[in-house]
Amino acid sequence: MQRKFFSAIAALTISSTLSLYAFADTTPEDAADYRSAVMTSLRGHIGAASMIARGLVENDGHLLGHAQGLANGANELSRVFPKGSNVGESEALPLIWEEPEAFAEAIANLQEATAAFVTAAESGDEEAIGAAFRNVGMSCRGCHDRFRVQQ
Ligand code: HEC
Repeated sequence: MQRKFFSAIAALTISSTLSLYAFADTTPEDAADYRSAVMTSLRGHIGAASMIARGLVENDGHLLGHAQGLANGANELSRVFPKGSNVGESEALPLIWEEPEAFAEAIANLQEATAAFVTAAESGDEEAIGAAFRNVGMSCRGCHDRFRVQQ
C-alpha cells in the first residue's frame, strides 16, 4: 500500500517535470474523472457543513474549513468542463457547451454563494450561516437542474 503510494508520487513528479501544466493533454476520460473527483469533494464539504450548520456536530472552527473547501471547488469549476469531456458515464449535458454564458453564470452563482458562506462562517452568526448555507445548496441545484442529466 505504502509502496503503491510512493510510486504514485514518483509518477506524479516525473510527469510534472515533463510538462508543468498538462491539462491541455488530458484525455476526455481523465477530464471526466477529475471533474467527478472535484464534484465529489464538493459533496463531502457540503455534507459535513450541513451537519455542523444543523448543530449535529460541534463547530469548533471547522465549518470555516468546509466553507473554504466549497469556495475552492467553486473557483475551479470553470476548468473542469473541457469541451468533449462528456464521455462514458458522464451526466454532463451538451447544453453546457451550447450555452456557455448561462453555464458560466451558474458557476458564478456558486462562487458568490460560497464566498458569502465563508464570510458567514467567519462571523459565527448562526442565522447568517443557515441562510448562506441554503444559498450554496440552491446554487448546486440550480446548475444540476439545468446542466446535468436528471437523476
Ligand atoms: C455550474 C454547474 C454546477 C454546479 C454549480 C455544481 N455542479 Fe455538481 N455537477 C454538475 C454537472 C454537469 C455534473 C455531471 C458531471 C458528469 O457526470 O460528467 C455534476 C455532478 C455532480 C456530482 C456527481 C459526481 C460523480 O461523478 O459521482 C456531485 C456529487 C455533485 N455534482 C455535487 C455538487 C455540489 C455539492 C455542488 C455545490 C456545492 C455542485 N455539484 C455544484 C454541475 C454543477
